[in-house]
Amino acid sequence: MKSYANRMLNLQGEGAYKVLAQANALETQGKSVIHLEIGQPNFATPEHISKAAFRAIAEGKTGYGPAQGVLSLRKAIASYVETYKDLHYVPEEIVVTPGAKPIIFYAMLALAEPGDEVIVPNPGFPTYASCVHFCGATLRNLELREENQFDPDPDQLLTLLSPKTKLVILNNPNNPTGRHTSTKIMRRITELIRDYSDAYVLSDEIYDRLVFQPTEPVFSPASVTGMRDRTIVLDGFSKTYAMTGWRLGYGLMNANMAEVFSRLMVNSNGCTATFTQEAGCEALLGPQDSVDQMRSEFHQRSVWFAEQLNQIKGVHCVIPNAAFYAFPRVSVNGLGSAEIAERLLQEVGVACLDGESFGQMGKGFLRLSTANSMDNLTMAIQRLHTFFDTL
Ligand SMILES: Cc1ncc(COP(=O)(O)O)c(C=O)c1O
Repeated sequence: MKSYANRMLNLQGEGAYKVLAQANALETQGKSVIHLEIGQPNFATPEHISKAAFRAIAEGKTGYGPAQGVLSLRKAIASYVETYKDLHYVPEEIVVTPGAKPIIFYAMLALAEPGDEVIVPNPGFPTYASCVHFCGATLRNLELREENQFDPDPDQLLTLLSPKTKLVILNNPNNPTGRHTSTKIMRRITELIRDYSDAYVLSDEIYDRLVFQPTEPVFSPASVTGMRDRTIVLDGFSKTYAMTGWRLGYGLMNANMAEVFSRLMVNSNGCTATFTQEAGCEALLGPQDSVDQMRSEFHQRSVWFAEQLNQIKGVHCVIPNAAFYAFPRVSVNGLGSAEIAERLLQEVGVACLDGESFGQMGKGFLRLSTANSMDNLTMAIQRLHTFFDTL
């Protein structure tokens, strides 16, 4: 048999899906596993949103739609981003995709090629680095350090920016750290990109409604003078509205880039499911109280969980201020985080991710999702104590 194309060697899988499969296999053997590996809200999609999809199906909205997304949803997105991000976009500048992930892939396919450099947060969402490698571009790491509360460092960014920089990916609030960076730092970072390069920015804002105690309005790099047309804003429905399985996301970008993204859609997905988009309109324009409830739950659980982690010998966790992740450093008896993650699953039934699956700066850390019930999180803490206390 002939071999696969070389580029496939560079496309990686994702730790969360691998560990989920491993954990499921253990469960089928009768082992009890607490799932803290996968990043998805443990809430049902709000009923009014699901009902909008049922209605759309009953009305026969089940055929192909425009590659760029149905106009009603793009109008709803324009109105939503005006309210929540203070950004002004028209439907021609909005592309709807099945989940937010295609926006990452398309941005890379549209922009990155051999000879280009792409700056990516490290630790960061693994798809970023995987797509950079797939496109043959060179990865540069914007280091998120524990001693800086995982904020990006403008001085380090300055050392990375060069005429070769084609794209800078920013992700605020951040997965895996569960940290939200202040507007002051994000504005400085964006201004440096503007002033010291002609790079594009991919701003992954998928967790921006899940800042626990917002003290300032949501900041998007697209709002900085001169950056709107150089920025692709990524957002979606998975995290904010507990719609991970629906596959619905979108990007905001200049109209020219939107035409390029639409061509990528035509050639890959064709279009996003039409009835799902109807549900998306309801999510954005309907009542928002479920978002507030989920945020408040995530806040309570994440802070409590991180504080409990800090009681465990050899574990230190920066207190999260957004999203639904804890990212503790683990240092016991010279064991590496990969080995600890593996042993936690096998020995005490806690599924979590090795921080290094988010890049080398994540080495020595674990990522645990706090999007789980308090009962399960309490049990997980007991199991973690059992494991770490007996090491
Ligand atoms: C930082 C970040 N960006 C993008 C995504 C992709 O979201 P979606 O499930 O809508 O494709 C995720 C999902 O885990 C994420 O954590």
